[in-house]
Amino acid sequence: MKKLIMDVDTGIDDSLALAYAITLENYDLIGITAAFGNVDQISSQKNALTILDSLGRSDVKVYPGQMGIEGNNPYVSSSLHVHGPNGLGGVEFAQSKRKAEEISAIEFLSSSIERYGTELVIYAAGPLANLAELYRVRPDLVKKTGKIVIMGGSLFVRGNRTPIAESNIYNDPEDAAFLFSLGLDIVLVGLDVTEKLILTRNDMDLWTSDVGQKFRHMTEFYIEFHNRCEPNAMEVCFLHDPAAVCYLDHPEYFKTLTLPVKVLLSGYERGRTIASFREGIPETTHFCIEVDKIKAEKAMKDSWLKLFG
Ligand code: BDR
Ligand code: CA
Repeated sequence: MKKLIMDVDTGIDDSLALAYAITLENYDLIGITAAFGNVDQISSQKNALTILDSLGRSDVKVYPGQMGIEGNNPYVSSSLHVHGPNGLGGVEFAQSKRKAEEISAIEFLSSSIERYGTELVIYAAGPLANLAELYRVRPDLVKKTGKIVIMGGSLFVRGNRTPIAESNIYNDPEDAAFLFSLGLDIVLVGLDVTEKLILTRNDMDLWTSDVGQKFRHMTEFYIEFHNRCEPNAMEVCFLHDPAAVCYLDHPEYFKTLTLPVKVLLSGYERGRTIASFREGIPETTHFCIEVDKIKAEKAMKDSWLKLFG
């Protein structure tokens, strides 16, 4: 069984991804590292603790990550309408009595890589400040790291934060560029596939348990956002962060291209991910370009039904 650490900027689809991940039989979730992004760092920690407790996983610890770019998170305001005032669609889950650990995300990631080597898989579904800081502080760990699966970027489709940039990458492009330059074994699960995977209100009809109803109300907020802002997604929501968990669960459902991925940093193209050859960027990033929609949606929906039915 592989060990799994999830780095999340705990918003709505991050929470759906956490729920899916705890049902995986081949992965042992050993900790969450909090990222800023959809919410600020402190709210990200609190939401992760709250969601884990609501799912009966109070045994999983949460580790504090980077506070933000220059100590703050300039992106909260732009995600309020996406993930709601508390990052969980405004839904009040029972507040966790737990606190994040004293040990930082960077220390936890470092010691876990040292302990488990390539048996450890790292999942990231927010801006990439924690992972970038990890390898800045501990460049020696690049060679000891196994697979990293990231929700982020877009290759052949438009962006969602700007017409050409995906939100997680746009929110911290310098750190993403640094990470993709290191030669790590990275899988990018970006908008090319995540926007093919959707959830409808009907899919949630059987989410009738107490926690299921909370998740349903939270996800309805996300569907409302899609109604307002995503012309190609009426009465549904995209399954961005859960799609990257689906890659962990069923990599055979995805087709990838292995490319040197560059993140553009200036002007209108800031945050765009492109393939750029002959610049010395390592060709170690596997960009997902196709997904078996029927099988992937079924895997996700079956997992939630187990928890919420
Ligand atoms: C990504 O942006 C965030 O708002 C979501 O949680 C997801 O990680 C989608 O572009
Ligand atoms: Ca996210």
